[in-house]
Amino acid sequence: MELFEALRNRRSIRKYADRPVPDELLEQVLEAARCAPSWANVQPWRFVVVTDPETRRALAETLPSNNPGKGAILGAPVLLAACGVKQTSGYYKGKVTTTLGDWLMFDLALALGQLTLAAHALGLGTLHVGLYDIERASAVLGLPADVQLVELVPMGYPDQTPNSPPRKPLAEIVHRGKWGSPYSKTIPA
Ligand SMILES: Cc1cc2nc3c(=O)[nH]c(=O)nc-3n(C[C@H](O)[C@H](O)[C@H](O)COP(=O)(O)O)c2cc1C
Repeated sequence: MELFEALRNRRSIRKYADRPVPDELLEQVLEAARCAPSWANVQPWRFVVVTDPETRRALAETLPSNNPGKGAILGAPVLLAACGVKQTSGYYKGKVTTTLGDWLMFDLALALGQLTLAAHALGLGTLHVGLYDIERASAVLGLPADVQLVELVPMGYPDQTPNSPPRKPLAEIVHRGKWGSPYSKTIPA
C-alpha cells in the first residue's frame, strides 16, 4: 500500500470480524513499532500481547461503559497493551533534561503511529484506547512500578468501513514565521 494512501485511509476500527490474526502479521506490526525513532534511541516502549479472552474481558472492564472502545476490546482477537519504561526518554544520567519532563508519551505515540499504519497496510484494523482506568489495567497486566501503561490497542480484521471524521484545514493549523501569520494565501481559510 502506498504511504499516503495508508495515511489518509487508516480509520479507528471498533467492530472486528471473528477471525484470528496470524502470528506473522502480528510480528510485522510489532516490527513497525520497533523501527520508530525515540529520544536518544532509548526505545522506551514495551508491549504486552493479550489474546486470552479472560484477560481481554478484565481489561475491557477498566473502560467506562460509555467508551465505544469497550466493545472493540471485547470483539478484537488481539489486544496490545503499550507501555513505556519511565525516566529514560528525555533523561541524561538519570536527570531530566527538558521542561517537558518524561518524553515517554511522545516516543510511545511515534511507535504506535507506525504500528497502526503498518496494521492498516496489512489489512488489519486497530483503535487507540486512552480513556480507561490505567491503575486497574496495570494491575491486571502485572506491570512493575517503573513501567507506565499508556494505551490499549485492540487489533483484528475490520468488520466495518467507517467514514473519516473531518480534519481541520491546513489554514487553521499552520502558521508561517510567527504565530498568527497565515501559512499561505493559496490555502483557503
Ligand atoms: C491518544 C488517543 C486516545 C484515544 N482514545 C480512544 C478511546 O478511549 N476510545 C475510543 O473509542 N477512541 C479513542 N481514540 C480514537 C479517536 O477517537 C480517533 O482516532 C479520532 O476520532 C479520529 O478518527 P480516526 O482514527 O478514524 O481517524 C483515541 C485516539 C487517540 C489518538
